[in-house]
This record gives sequence, C-alpha cells and structure tokens, in this order.
Amino acid sequence: MIFLPASTALLLAALSRLGNATPLLSTGQKCRNVPGSAGFPAPTAWNAFNSTISGRLVAAIPSAEFCVNRGGCTDAEWTSAVFRNHIPGAMNQINWEQGYDLTPPSLCVVNGTACGQGDVPLYSVEAQTVADVQAAVKFATTNDLRVAIKSSGHDYLGRSTAPHSLLIHTNNLTNLSFTDAFFVGNESLGSAVTVGPGVHLTLIYQESKALGRIAVGGSAATVCAAGGYLQGAGHSSLSPTFGLAADNVLEFQIVVASGELLQVNSITNPNLFYALRGGGAGSWGVVVSATFRTFPTFNSTFGLFTLSAANNKAMAALATLHAQHIFDFEATNSSQYFIVEADLTGTTTTSTMTLETYMINQTVEQSQAIIAPFLTAAQALPGVAIVSSKYTYGLMNDLLNHPDDSVGNDLVMGSRLIPESTYRNSPETVGEVYQQLLDAGTPIIFGNLVAGGKVAENANIDSAVNPAWRTAKTHLIVINGWLDSTSQDNVNALRSKFRNTQLPILEQMSGPNAGSYSNEADVMEADFQTTFFGPNYAKLSAIKSKYDPDDLFIVGAGVGSERWDEWGLCTV
Ligand SMILES: Cc1cc2nc3c(=O)[nH]c(=O)nc-3n(C[C@H](O)[C@H](O)[C@H](O)COP(=O)(O)OP(=O)(O)OC[C@H]3O[C@@H](n4cnc5c(N)ncnc54)[C@H](O)[C@@H]3O)c2cc1C
Ligand SMILES: *[C@@H]1O[C@H](CO)[C@@H](O)[C@H](O)[C@H]1NC(C)=O
Ligand SMILES: *[C@@H]1O[C@H](CO)[C@@H](O)[C@H](O)[C@H]1NC(C)=O
Ligand SMILES: *[C@@H]1O[C@H](CO)[C@@H](O)[C@H](O)[C@H]1NC(C)=O
Ligand SMILES: *[C@@H]1O[C@H](CO)[C@@H](O)[C@H](O)[C@H]1NC(C)=O
Ligand SMILES: *[C@@H]1O[C@H](CO)[C@@H](O)[C@H](O)[C@H]1NC(C)=O
Ligand SMILES: *[C@@H]1O[C@H](CO)[C@@H](O)[C@H](O)[C@H]1NC(C)=O
Ligand SMILES: *[C@@H]1O[C@H](CO)[C@@H](O)[C@H](O)[C@H]1NC(C)=O
Ligand SMILES: *[C@@H]1O[C@H](CO)[C@@H](O)[C@H](O)[C@H]1NC(C)=O
Repeated sequence: MIFLPASTALLLAALSRLGNATPLLSTGQKCRNVPGSAGFPAPTAWNAFNSTISGRLVAAIPSAEFCVNRGGCTDAEWTSAVFRNHIPGAMNQINWEQGYDLTPPSLCVVNGTACGQGDVPLYSVEAQTVADVQAAVKFATTNDLRVAIKSSGHDYLGRSTAPHSLLIHTNNLTNLSFTDAFFVGNESLGSAVTVGPGVHLTLIYQESKALGRIAVGGSAATVCAAGGYLQGAGHSSLSPTFGLAADNVLEFQIVVASGELLQVNSITNPNLFYALRGGGAGSWGVVVSATFRTFPTFNSTFGLFTLSAANNKAMAALATLHAQHIFDFEATNSSQYFIVEADLTGTTTTSTMTLETYMINQTVEQSQAIIAPFLTAAQALPGVAIVSSKYTYGLMNDLLNHPDDSVGNDLVMGSRLIPESTYRNSPETVGEVYQQLLDAGTPIIFGNLVAGGKVAENANIDSAVNPAWRTAKTHLIVINGWLDSTSQDNVNALRSKFRNTQLPILEQMSGPNAGSYSNEADVMEADFQTTFFGPNYAKLSAIKSKYDPDDLFIVGAGVGSERWDEWGLCTV
C-alpha cells in the first residue's frame, strides 16, 4: 500500500467507537530473561558484549522520549519515516511503541514528559557488519534473551519491536550491488541486485535507473526489500507484470539462531529458501542480504484520479462500478491502489475514492482510453463527481521514486485477499460490502490491485507464498486509527474492531476462508496460521524447528508464535 497524507491519519480518531476491550493475559511456564530475573546479564556482561561489537550497543528509548531529550522534534520530523529510521527505539506507527497490554499500561506519547518504556526494546545493536549480527545472536542465545529484528520499523503488526528485548537493528547494512549474471550453482540466473536489509526501495529504483533496469518493489520509499517485505511475499505495482517480489528472489544470506551465516538458495538450504519467500517476516533469522532479479526498465503512465460520493449509497454504487471495470486493466498488466476514505472530520456524509493507477508500458493517450469507460460511467452515477484527474508519463523508476513516507500515527489494520471470482461473478457484492463498512464507521478501505497476471501464472513456484495470492485479484485492507488522546478503552475497541465488526462484513466479499497478506494485516487474527500461511503452515513449522529449535525468533502471528504469549516472553 502507499502512505496516507499526515492530515488524513491525524483525523482518524474522529471515527473512534466504543466497545469491549479484550485483555490479553500470560500464564508463562518457561520465560525469557528480563531485568530482575536471575539469568539476566549483569552490567559487566553487557559491557563485555558491547566491546565485542565495537561499542555499537545503545540503550533504546521511545521516539517521543528521544524527541524530548533532543529539545523537541518538528512535526515534519515526527512524521518522517527517514527521520524515524535513525532512532533505534522508534516504530513508524507509534502505537507499536506503547505497552497497552502491560500491567499497568506503559505509554510514551508525543511530547510526553512521563514516559514508560512500553513495548520498546531495552538495548539495540546498531549492526554495521555480519559479525555484529552474529555476536548479538550468540549473546541472546547464551543469555536466553528476547530478540527483536528491525530494518525500517514499518511493520503494521508491531513485529519489529518487543518489550524487554535486545533489538538487532539492521538499518545500517546498506550494501547494494548489481550483476548481469548471478550464479546459483553453475547456472547464471541473469541480471540481479543484491542488497543489505537497510537499503530502502527508493534507493533500488534510483540506482537501477542508471543501468536501465527495474526491480519488483513496493510503493513505499522507505520499506526495506531485504527486511520484512520479501519474507512476507512483497506486492508491487509491477506484480501483474513480473510476479510478487518473493517470486523473484534468487538468494538470501542469513544469520540463523546458531549464529552461523548461511547461504540460502534453490540448491543450498532449499527448505529455508522456501520459508523465506512468503513464510513470514522475522521468524527465521537475521537476513543480512537478499538477491533478486532486475528487468529492463520502461516508461509508464501514472494516473491519479479523485472521485467523490455524496453518501455511502453513492459510494457503494461507485465501488460496484469500480469492481465491474477492474478487468479493464488486465490486458496491459496495469495496477492500481484504490483508496476509499470517509470524511474523517465526521461533519459530512461525503467520501472519496482515490485511484493511483500505474498503466504499465502505456502512453498517456493509451491510458486515457483504458480509464475512460470507468470515468464516463462514474460521472453518470447519482451523487458521484470526478474531483481531479492527472496523468504523469515517465520511467517506471521515477514514477515509483519518493523521498520519504509519511508516518508517525496510531493505526492498525485487517485485510483479506479478494478472489478474482468475486469481481467476475458478483461485483455488486463489492458495493454492498463498502456500504456496510462505511456505515459501521470504517475510516479507510485501502485496495491494492496488484495480483492476477504473472502473480497467478507463478502458482507453480514452490515457495511459502500463501496460495490465496494466486487466485486473488486484489488485497483489501481496512484501516482503523486513533489519536494519542483517545482513551485506553476506545483504543482497545479499535484494536479489536477488525475482528469483531469489519471482518464478518469483508468475508461477504472474500469468502469465509480467504487468505490475507501477512505484512498488511491484523496481528490479532484468530487463526493466523491458516489466514496468513494457508496449507503451508505445517511445513513451515517443521522448517522452523530445524533452523530455530529454541524459538529465538518469535513475532506476533508468526510461525511458532502459538507457543508464546503476546510479547514472546513466556511460553503458554
Ligand atoms: C508506508 C508503507 C507502504 C507499504 N507499501 C507496501 C507495498 O507496496 N507492498 C508491500 O508488499 N508491502 C508494503 N508495505 C508493508 C511492508 O512490506 C511491511 O511493513 C514490511 O514488513 C516492511 O519490512 P521492513 O523490514 O521495512 O520493516 P520492519 O518493521 O523493520 O520489519 C518488518 C518485519 O520484518 C522483520 N525484519 C526486518 N528486518 C529483518 C532482517 N534483516 N532479517 C529478518 N527479519 C527482519 C522484522 O522483525 C519484522 O517482523 C508498506 C508499509 C508501509 C508502512
Ligand atoms: C557501548 O560502548 C560505547 C562506546 O564505548 C558507548 O558509547 C555506549 O554507551 C555503550 N553502550 C552501552 C549500552 O553502555
Ligand atoms: C511537540 O512539540 C513540538 C516542539 O518541540 C511541536 O512543534 C509539536 O507541534 C508538538 N506536537 C504535538 C502533537 O503537540
Ligand atoms: C548508522 O546509523 C546511524 C544511526 O542511524 C547513522 O547516524 C550512521 O550514519 C550510520 N552509519 C553508517 C555507516 O551507515
Ligand atoms: C558490504 O560490502 C563490503 C564490500 O564488498 C564487504 O566487505 C562487507 O562485508 C559487506 N557488508 C555486509 C554487512 O554484508
Ligand atoms: C554444472 O554443470 C554441469 C555441466 O554443465 C552439470 O552436469 C552439473 O549438474 C552442474 N552442476 C550443478 C550444481 O548445477
Ligand atoms: C521513455 O520516454 C522518454 C521520453 O519520451 C524517452 O526519451 C525514453 O527513451 C523512454 N525510455 C524507455 C526506456 O522507453
Ligand atoms: C514494453 O513495450 C515494449 C515495446 O512494445 C516491449 O518491447 C517491452 O517488452 C514492454 N515491456 C513490458 C514490461 O511490458
Ligand atoms: C502481462 O503479463 C503476462 C505475465 O507475465 C505476460 O504473459 C503478458 O505478455 C503481459 N502482457 C503485456 C501486454 O505485457
């Protein structure tokens, strides 16, 4: 998905609803060492460890405390993903820094003066080398510490932070290199790029441009390809043309729980290669590099259209029309982010639909012809108006390149992959679902038309990518947010709103057992094993027990997490 304007997200709290909180309790048997437990390393042991990693151990603090300590952060800094990347304790969505479920809750909100540590790690290893990563993994294993791994801190499920943990921060591993012939065994798999986990997508678009190449990457500037993106599956506006990002990976280098650095590809450690392509971020080890294909680049047209609907009924009609026309993009493998937003001030019944469309390899004239049937029909709908339309023609690298992403909000989401058959057979269901979601006070419904085409054709690839991707047309996300001033009860209601209210509505469109993309999802999914991993879960569990027998790498709703409490601190 792409980033929201800061103003949008700051208004999300207007949509807060009351509801019952779901307390999450832990009844631990075996627990990781935390400050105060007998096995927790003494200060001398931390100091000795710090010397082995050239002094790259820092005490992590919440981002709000970091800002207060440096005499304040501007609003532009607070909402900048690039700025937050350099704060070891920071997450991009600040709700993940908060310990809402700790007893008592431990919070640190913007400009807060009395700050708790919340869910922020204790210490961070600011890794510069593979040896730093290996030392951190060995220190954590020896001392039975909770480990968290972070590259960009973008994670929408809070999986790159954990209370009382040692963070392995891979933001500084920024190597990047291209080759015309990447070898696995004695076979050249062609042109490829190898990146460290600290490399942002935007840098890949910029650097590949000079070579006349492009790689499959997401719409966000600051997501890290070799971090969580590829491990989740990685969708892109180029996916209908070239497949998912995970479909294009050739090799990983990873430090596993034993501390060993492993080469992982179709020949060497093939089981881990299977797992790292779709088996879920953060569950396998610390990835220190990933290699994936590049393609000859080309020009495309980016079409940005905003439509308004006077009320939910008009938006429902527009959503049905959009569903009926979704196949208009198929012949060219074009892709689209389609975002419906309620009036976040809550003062009118007007909602908007924004269409960010990548017409692949098309001129502006060709693109106008592709979109015209939809826009013409939309204009004829009662209560619907076209607010603006804009076309930008250029190299795909430039169309995808942004300097930064706007973050710094409190938000959670839930999602489902929507089968192509829904759009083909019952597009009117789409409108009904949108109407019910909006009527239920949903602020944002975020659609990703990034499947079909090559994503469907790649069904034969033997990887952990959820097979629901192969029959999907879109990935649909429902977003809920709040302000720091929202009460804890309302925050808890919003955290549970997807499960309690929105999912039953969405399932009318997806069917009851549809999958979801694990990187843009609800960490509280009731049956995450099936929803995120489908039939692959048993195989993934077996691979995990081989490479991570003691569950060093546990993340929320990740493989093996059913054995652990919400924080990955005690077994259940
Ligand atoms: C603004 C925005 C736009 C987005 N757009 C898209 C999009 O277009 N397409 C798409 O598919 N997704 C998109 N996403 C979702 C994105 O793929 C996930 O948030 C992804 O997990 C980010 O990976 P990261 O490493 O950058 O984030 P982090 O928060 O640093 O990490 C995410 C997960 O990966 C693990 N991880 C991070 N680094 C490593 C490492 N070196 N080794 C092992 N595990 C690691 C973490 O432990 C965590 O579980 C978007 C997210 C945002 C915030
Ligand atoms: C680690 O060592 C460096 C360099 O000596 C020092 O600046 C830093 O404060 C130490 N970290 C911790 C957590 O003590
Ligand atoms: C926090 O304080 C800074 C000044 O240090 C100010 O610019 C900013 O607007 C404040 N943010 C909020 C949300 O109050
Ligand atoms: C490592 O990261 C820190 C903090 O994010 C940054 O200040 C520093 O320049 C980085 N160093 C390298 C070598 O990338
Ligand atoms: C980065 O590349 C340099 C030069 O090839 C290499 O020496 C170094 O080990 C690499 N670092 C990492 C973390 O992979
Ligand atoms: C390497 O190439 C030879 C001959 O081309 C082939 O027989 C052999 O199987 C290949 N080895 C691998 C590991 O692919
Ligand atoms: C993209 O379009 C520009 C301007 O029309 C043209 O100069 C350039 O050669 C095109 N690039 C590709 C890769 O087709
Ligand atoms: C774009 O169009 C050109 C010219 O028709 C073609 O050679 C190229 O393969 C196309 N690229 C993609 C990604 O479709
Ligand atoms: C669309 O993608 C598919 C799958 O890669 C490919 O077979 C087809 O040629 C592409 N169509 C166009 C117009 O490029």
